[in-house]
Amino acid sequence: MTPTPATAAVRVRRAELSDLDDLVALEDATFDSDRLSRAQYRRHLDSDSALVLVASANHRRFLGTAVVFFRKGTQVARLYSIASKPEARGKGVGSALIEAAEDAARARHCHALRLEVRTDNDNAIRLYQRLGYREIGRYERYYQDGMAALRFERMLVGT
Ligand SMILES: CC(C)(COP(=O)(O)OP(=O)(O)OC[C@H]1O[C@@H](n2cnc3c(N)ncnc32)[C@H](O)[C@@H]1OP(=O)(O)O)[C@@H](O)C(=O)NCCC(=O)NCCS
Repeated sequence: MTPTPATAAVRVRRAELSDLDDLVALEDATFDSDRLSRAQYRRHLDSDSALVLVASANHRRFLGTAVVFFRKGTQVARLYSIASKPEARGKGVGSALIEAAEDAARARHCHALRLEVRTDNDNAIRLYQRLGYREIGRYERYYQDGMAALRFERMLVGT
């Protein structure tokens, strides 16, 4: 496999049906529980209240994904899931996906983006903090294995 150059230009676009295999493979390789199924991804691809983003290098090579949910009646968007391929981590893919999620939320007139993260996920927590997310609370026993979640938020207005 060709290594991902540290300077690879990361592009982020909306996911298409042809991304389903990559999306499901990354989901299964990344998460032990609370996984999105193929059927759920397929529904989210077609849904007005969800946005599935794909990060790629040179237009083609799949590097990662993020899923954003929007709900009627609230201007708070939710970053439901984010993952980059293990060999592509630490090269800005996650940051690019989060910035694209924020742009999409702004375009839908959302004033904040929120997310939950496992309390033991140090890499993700550091990344969110670096990008301006602040902790707004905690849900005990949030994940299927009983782990608590930290809740983070970034205000999108004026940023
Ligand atoms: C969290 C995650 C999406 C970040 O993606 P990424 O592509 O590594 O993101 P970036 O490269 O933009 O930033 C990662 C940070 O970790 C650092 N890092 C360096 N090498 C790394 C590596 N091998 N793996 C992970 N992070 C690394 C980066 O320098 C950066 O640090 P900084 O925030 O202090 O600058 C990715 O680690 C991942 O997919 N993890 C598994 C799934 C997950 O935990 N998702 C979040 C909860 S839903």
